[in-house]
Amino acid sequence: MKVAIVGGTGAFGRALARKLRSLDHEVYIGSRDAQRGRERASELGVQGGANEEVVRGADLVVLATKSNATLDTARELVDAIEQNTEPTASSRDAVWVTEIIQGAYASHFAGGKRLAIPLVDRRHPLAI
Ligand SMILES: NC(=O)c1ccc[n+]([C@@H]2O[C@H](COP(=O)([O-])OP(=O)(O)OC[C@H]3O[C@@H](n4cnc5c(N)ncnc54)[C@H](OP(=O)(O)O)[C@@H]3O)[C@@H](O)[C@H]2O)c1
Repeated sequence: MKVAIVGGTGAFGRALARKLRSLDHEVYIGSRDAQRGRERASELGVQGGANEEVVRGADLVVLATKSNATLDTARELVDAIEQNTEPTASSRDAVWVTEIIQGAYASHFAGGKRLAIPLVDRRHPLAI
């Protein structure tokens, strides 16, 4: 069975992932940050990614987020699945925000030059 654990990067989600993996289930750890989901998953020998990615096609979705975030997270995922859109503040949005910040920083070190994002030169501006 494919089991997606939303917020599976926490203590409860990781413990559950370990147990389900030992029972030969196909386990996916979800996170608001896809990279963090992949990293925590690889430590446990399971799959991982963004919450909205891992729930697709799952036979069972376990909500293991911090308790005060459970209802909002569930509502966002239901909307994202029904409308085939990304949830508010998805990991893709986070990547774009990071690109914008890095772009402004690189532009400053390039003498205020206008730069296109995603940046072609991805080295740290102080290392160039
Ligand atoms: N720990 C236990 O022993 C235990 C036992 C039984 C039941 N539970 C229940 O299991 C659930 C998870 O417990 P936990 O101790 O593992 O919780 P936790 O570590 O505090 O949080 C789990 C994950 O929730 C995500 N998260 C945090 N804030 C969020 C927000 N505002 N919106 C969406 N996601 C958010 C984080 O993942 P990302 O930052 O990677 O998205 C975090 O790794 C809770 O409902 C708890 O009551 C826990």
